[in-house]
Amino acid sequence: MVRQWTPDSWRGRPVQQMPEYPDAAALAAVEGRLATYPPLVFAGEARKLKRALAKAAAGEGFLLQGGDCAESFAEHGADTIRDFFRVFLQMAVVLTFAGAMPVVKVGRIAGQFAKPRSDPMETNGGVALPAYRGDIVNGIDFTPEARTPDPARLEMAYRQSAATLNLLRAFAGGGYANLEHVHQWTLGFVKDSPQAHHYEEIATRISDTLSFMRACGIDPQTTPSLQTTDFFTSHEALLLGYEQALTRVDSTTGDWYATSGHLLWVGDRTRQLDHAHVEYLRGVQNPIGLKVSGSLSPDAMMELIDLLNPKDEPGRLTLITRFGAGKVEEGLPKIVRRIQREGRTVLWCCDPMHGNTIKATNGYKTRPFDLILKEVETFFAVHRAEGTHPGGIHIEMTGSNVTECLGGARAISEADLRSRYHTHCDPRLNADQALELAFLVSELMKRDRTSNGRRAVAGF
Ligand code: TRP
Ligand code: MN
Repeated sequence: MVRQWTPDSWRGRPVQQMPEYPDAAALAAVEGRLATYPPLVFAGEARKLKRALAKAAAGEGFLLQGGDCAESFAEHGADTIRDFFRVFLQMAVVLTFAGAMPVVKVGRIAGQFAKPRSDPMETNGGVALPAYRGDIVNGIDFTPEARTPDPARLEMAYRQSAATLNLLRAFAGGGYANLEHVHQWTLGFVKDSPQAHHYEEIATRISDTLSFMRACGIDPQTTPSLQTTDFFTSHEALLLGYEQALTRVDSTTGDWYATSGHLLWVGDRTRQLDHAHVEYLRGVQNPIGLKVSGSLSPDAMMELIDLLNPKDEPGRLTLITRFGAGKVEEGLPKIVRRIQREGRTVLWCCDPMHGNTIKATNGYKTRPFDLILKEVETFFAVHRAEGTHPGGIHIEMTGSNVTECLGGARAISEADLRSRYHTHCDPRLNADQALELAFLVSELMKRDRTSNGRRAVAGF
């Protein structure tokens, strides 16, 4: 029997990773106000994303999902957002060109604030304080004041998300994303990188193609899809009080939607079948993601899928696999075969970041670019062998020139990590590394395309 779902039915379930607020009344007051504020995204947009993901699941599209591990209040400038968006557009264009299929663009942005922690407390110099759980919960400074969960932060996160989304919508729809600007998206510090030359080649081919099409009567004026793009937002649905406050009935269909972002995912640490996070997500009609690692048995995965997507609706569920470069070859085929055998529809997306986190000898939490690449390559190889579609990548990245992940063409070394290690949480690919990864993925897509007998673009 299917139990009744309401936006607050999660409150009756065991819950992991929830902060302990000292003042419950203050929290309830903020959540009450949030519930009266305008939604950040519109249900119709979530449905549009679902349709795009359904196409990708059917092999006719590719999901590019990326952004910060954790957004922060301190780094909320227009330049940061623009730089991220630029690199993201570059990556999307490279993948669209190589794969000759639509790229679904989804940021980990405008709402990606809350972080799960392995230990609720952090001990430093003999002092134990609550762990940092993301700017929506508490502050990163190691003081009792900063680390005490503060409900006012929910409203700040909401307002920052609205402002971020506003700028992104302007970029996506207001001319910045026009394909005729393909040459202008290269960031200053990327200009002299090994990727820049490679990118220029593709950009030139695209502008040549646009000139040819213009001569044929097709240009951004006659064909608006050349000058705008659909950009969607996503985050981990972790702080359920915030999510509940932004859950709304869509007046056109009568269905419930999360309006804090277009796609929400459930993480590795909160995906217990009968617990609160899964309970919340099963009732909203947005597209959702499920993180899958070696710690999830195929049987447990099927139970989750039955609950989260009982009608096998295409586009509803993206499986974001994060095994680690050393384990993906063993772990991924098992779940791919199980899904195939059960005849379920999912979009396969590779998160090559979270299974490849290591501690450098100088103590920095980092990720070697080689391992990230290896996991993506194996992901493609497994899907090729199983006859399924490698449908996307999910990465932690920034448009800034940080030094957080090791390697890449500019060979960031352990000694380099300390120079620009800015992340509030996990290490992110910098703009160079993100673009380099897009080129390497584009090579893998091209290989698939040729072996599928689809026409490859000569010389690319
Ligand atoms: N609208 C198409 C798309 O989003 C083409 C497009 C316009 C595009 N601007 C873009 C593709 C920027 C990639 C990057 O796919
Ligand atoms: Mn992370």
